[in-house]
Amino acid sequence: MDRGDILSGAAFSAVLRSAFAFVVLLLLFGWITLFYVERSLIDELGDDVQQRWDIIAAEHASDGEETIVTTITDLSRVGASAHHAAALFGTSDRFIAGNIMTRPEADGLQVGPLDHAAASPDDVTRDYVYFSGPLGDNILVVGQRLDLLYHTKILVFRTLTLSGFLIVLTMLSVGYFLSSKSLRRLRDIEMALSKTSEGDTAVRISENGGTTQIDRIARQMNLHLDRLSRMIATTRNTAAAAAHDLKSPLGRAYLSLGKAMEMVDHGDDPSDALTDTQDELETMRVIFDSYLQLSRIEAAGEAHLNTRVDLQALIAELVETFALIAEDEGQSLSFDTEAGAAYAVMGDSQMLQQMVVNLLQNAVTHGPDGNRITVRLGHADGQVRFTVADTGPGIPAASMERVFEPFHRLDPSRSKPGNGLGLALVRAIAEKHNGRVALRDNRPGLIVEVTLPAVG
Ligand SMILES: Nc1ncnc2c1ncn2[C@@H]1O[C@H](COP(=O)(O)OP(=O)(O)OP(=O)(O)O)[C@@H](O)[C@H]1O
Ligand SMILES: [Mg+2]
Repeated sequence: MDRGDILSGAAFSAVLRSAFAFVVLLLLFGWITLFYVERSLIDELGDDVQQRWDIIAAEHASDGEETIVTTITDLSRVGASAHHAAALFGTSDRFIAGNIMTRPEADGLQVGPLDHAAASPDDVTRDYVYFSGPLGDNILVVGQRLDLLYHTKILVFRTLTLSGFLIVLTMLSVGYFLSSKSLRRLRDIEMALSKTSEGDTAVRISENGGTTQIDRIARQMNLHLDRLSRMIATTRNTAAAAAHDLKSPLGRAYLSLGKAMEMVDHGDDPSDALTDTQDELETMRVIFDSYLQLSRIEAAGEAHLNTRVDLQALIAELVETFALIAEDEGQSLSFDTEAGAAYAVMGDSQMLQQMVVNLLQNAVTHGPDGNRITVRLGHADGQVRFTVADTGPGIPAASMERVFEPFHRLDPSRSKPGNGLGLALVRAIAEKHNGRVALRDNRPGLIVEVTLPAVG
């Protein structure tokens, strides 16, 4: 995987931004910490220095100047390393004893450099906390160098820098890992899409059951790919079946047209052959019309499905017509419904009429002599339920889904008339009306059940 791609990935960029924010916060936190550490250490050392000054002052009050000169000289020796400072100055800033060579200018508790006898320029600092004040006719100065403060500041600084560095390093490693992981998933998606665009409809994105946004997108895309491959398969089947179904009438039309031309050449009357040609062309027209109608229904909006249609009246009228056709075929057709009940649906009455005609036509066409057809209209679960049951050959369970595909017919000998578009239209019309169609076995025969949303 390209490192540049990983570093420009969303996960790594997000972590990089967080790391930057973290460093800024750490600097701010470090600055505040150092500020408070300095304040409190100077306060502590100041108290200490003040106490030492008070002790020497008390000694001065009780034992006199001679004693404190000894004490200061002793203290200076102990503080030869320049950590401690003490000195006594007489009038006109005359040095009397101690390790501070020049009297500091200001009196009181101060922070600043002192002219210490042992101070070397290499030392960490020349700054002291010191207290300078009058003691009798003299000035006593007691101080403590700020080494501790500087060492503490360096320690805090090093600790913050090291922990900040380790935290940022960990964040960037995690970001790199996450970014390379999501990039791998994106590559999967990219590859699946490019294979699909090359025509491989079987390819899918690997799913790991995760819950990240990429996992959810992968699942959604797989669902779309499933639907797309189903659509492509149906379209391919439909195109092949349409070509197959159009081939026969086209071939027959071609033959009878040839026959008509021959008859004209021989001076015979070509009317019969031309009528055959016309019949074949009519068959092709019906196929095209039905297919166009199917496409129109599938593409139509819902704007014109706003008429209240009384299904009972609509079905009763069609049953009346088909009862005569069934009778001619040696079959029976009955209508079973609760008279006076309301079976209204919202929709397009012409489409709904077409749906009922197709189902009645199927029952009669595909049923044998003696076929008993029963049409029922009722309510189920707040929906209008309409069924057409017959006692004909039925449809095997394995084909119950495929018969809804355009041009799909079960009868291999094509002994029955039809183009295989009737049930495709029934399903398209039912679904357009927010309804469903289901096929069931009538043992023997077929039950087609249509459910549509009922209105008041
Ligand atoms: N009531 C039925 N009994 C037995 N088989 C049926 C029945 N209805 C449909 N079929 C089978 O399902 C196939 C598809 O039906 P569909 O209505 O879609 O097409 P068709 O009846 O062959 O032609 P078309 O309806 O376009 O004139 C039929 O060819 C037939 O084999
Ligand atoms: Mg049909």
